[in-house]
Amino acid sequence: MRIVIASDHAGFALKGELREMLEGLGHDVTDVGTYSGEKPVDYPDWSEKATERITSGKADRGILICGTGIGMSIAANKVRGIYAALCDNEFSAKVSREHNDANVLVMGSRVIGVELARAITAAWLEAEPFEGRHLVRRQKIISYEVSAHGDPDRVPREGGGRVVIMEHPLIQHKLSIVRDKNTSVKDFRDLVQEIAGLMAYEISRNLPMEQIDVETPVCATKGFSLSGKKLAVVPVLRAGLGMVEGILRLVPNAKVGHVGLYRDPDTLRPVDYYCKLPNDIGERDIFILDPMLATGGSASAAIAHVKDRGGRRISLVSLIAAPEGVAKVKSDHPEVDIFSAALDSRLNDHGYIVPGLGDAGDRLFGTK
Ligand code: RB5
Repeated sequence: MRIVIASDHAGFALKGELREMLEGLGHDVTDVGTYSGEKPVDYPDWSEKATERITSGKADRGILICGTGIGMSIAANKVRGIYAALCDNEFSAKVSREHNDANVLVMGSRVIGVELARAITAAWLEAEPFEGRHLVRRQKIISYEVSAHGDPDRVPREGGGRVVIMEHPLIQHKLSIVRDKNTSVKDFRDLVQEIAGLMAYEISRNLPMEQIDVETPVCATKGFSLSGKKLAVVPVLRAGLGMVEGILRLVPNAKVGHVGLYRDPDTLRPVDYYCKLPNDIGERDIFILDPMLATGGSASAAIAHVKDRGGRRISLVSLIAAPEGVAKVKSDHPEVDIFSAALDSRLNDHGYIVPGLGDAGDRLFGTK
């Protein structure tokens, strides 16, 4: 594992001991300082150096040490994507991985001795995050981060797995009208298509281009053309239909597939009753459309059906997601990028997203 380690002057000696231990275990350790215990330094500077390596993808996890561990943990937890756990016992260290997926371990050199610090570090390295309700809770923390700092997950990532919340003002403006219970069926329908179109603009921002020759009325020049990337949009029936036209307005050559699912009243599991996809689905970038990502059950099943039929590069596009739904899709299909116009706070007892917008299908088709 690539581990970055840092301390202030108070943690310098313990840092050396732990670095040796980690290297002995075969980890790839980067020590970003401080490099002396003599001169007092400011712990936020060293926390910043270490956390930067994690957020930029150069390290998988980090260990921070100061006198009490308190300053380092406060500083580290200000950074988006850092989940730092201050631990003075093995149990907390283990649980900080299992429940909280802490990517930074913080210890206080004036609080614990070397042997205990080694044991805490070993427990933290061995434990792996649990899924289920713990993943939902962690997703709720991510949802605070997105609302506080905007979405850093915009840049495509090898292997997928992003959760991109589109906080563009036009999308947010229209989404608020769509949420309003007094919005008419016609306006609701029009706005859902408009939001889907704006989302398509955002989702397609990284499509590859090729340079082409263009003759303007004035002279010859170079321009760009989309380099033949094949797209497919796959609405999940019926509410996903409400987003299709908006996306096709921007990418008119995309093929359209359909997946129909209903929930079996006995097993409560989604059953697919219809699935028709383009023949060459395996060669296409696929956008599955499902306006409400609530429990994630139907979205996850739809993704599984598309995969069963050969789909490989799949993204999920929703208008409103709940942390529970995001967690479900991330756990069942970790490589799928999730795009949503909003990440709401939770599900209520009936499985509706709160605050949400109610039942998207009923509001689109006027069936209630
Ligand atoms: C340094 O004296 C000390 O304040 C620092 O190491 C840390 O304990 C801060 O939280």
